[in-house]
Amino acid sequence: MTSVLLTGASRGIGKAIKHLFLQRGMQVWAPSRQEMDLSDPDSISRYTASLTEGVDVLINCAGINELAGVEEMTDEQIEKSIQINLLAQMQLIRWVVPFMKHRGGGKIVNFASIWCSFSKPRRIIYSVAKAGVKGLTTAAAVELATDNILVNAVAPGFINTEMTSQNNSPAQIQALTRALPMKRLGQPDEVAELVWFLISDKNTFMTGQTLFIDGGFSCI
Ligand SMILES: NC(=O)c1ccc[n+]([C@@H]2O[C@H](COP(=O)([O-])OP(=O)(O)OC[C@H]3O[C@@H](n4cnc5c(N)ncnc54)[C@H](OP(=O)(O)O)[C@@H]3O)[C@@H](O)[C@H]2O)c1
Repeated sequence: MTSVLLTGASRGIGKAIKHLFLQRGMQVWAPSRQEMDLSDPDSISRYTASLTEGVDVLINCAGINELAGVEEMTDEQIEKSIQINLLAQMQLIRWVVPFMKHRGGGKIVNFASIWCSFSKPRRIIYSVAKAGVKGLTTAAAVELATDNILVNAVAPGFINTEMTSQNNSPAQIQALTRALPMKRLGQPDEVAELVWFLISDKNTFMTGQTLFIDGGFSCI
C-alpha cells in the first residue's frame, strides 16, 4: 500500500486530498496542527521521528496567507509565513528523501499559488514564500531526478476554501469570479485530482513543474 504524509488535511484542499486518497486505497498520515505544528521545526522533527519507515509520497499542502502591506508587515509575520509556507516544506523534504532513495523512488507535491508569479497589494509575504516554493520545487527536482524522485508544485488560483473567504469579501469574490475566464471559483476536489495524477503511476516523466490550476486566471 502506498503511504502518504499529507499536511494541512484538517480543511480545504488538504481535506479533499485526504478524502480522495483514502477512497483510492492509500495509507494517509495526516497530522493535525497539534500533532505537527509547522511553525515549529522541533515539532516537525518530533512528529517525523515517529514515522520510522518514512513514506512513499509527501504532499506539502498546509499554508497560511495573513495579509500585510509593504510598510505594515512585521518580522513576526514574515518569519511565521516563511516558516509555515516554505521552510516546513524544505524540512519535510529533507526528512523524507533518504527513505525515498532507500525505496527506489518517490513523489513529492508542494503547494505554491498563483501569487508565486503574480501578486496584488498586501500579498508580499505570501508571494515571497510561494515564489520560494517554486524555486524549491525546481531545485529539488533537478537534484533528485536520478533517484527516481519526482517533485512538482501545484499553484492554485481562487479555490472555494476558508483561505479565499477570509481574505476576500463576498463582493470581492463576486467581482473576481466575474473576471475569471471560467466564471467560477475552483473546488478543492478539482485540485485533489491534479495532485492525484502527479503522485500516480501515470506520472512517470513530469518533474520540476509548478502547475497552475486557476480557471484561466494566469492567461488574461
Ligand atoms: N484556497 C485558495 O484559493 C488557494 C490559492 C492558492 C494557493 N493555495 C494554497 O493551497 C494550500 C491549501 O490551502 P487551503 O485553501 O486549503 O487553506 P485553508 O483552508 O486555510 O487550510 C489551511 C490548512 O493548513 C493548516 N495549517 C496552517 N497553519 C499550520 C501550522 N502552523 N501547522 C500545521 N498546519 C497548519 C491548517 O490547519 P488548521 O486547521 O489547524 O489551521 C489547514 O489544514 C495552501 O498551501 C495555500 O497557500 C490556496
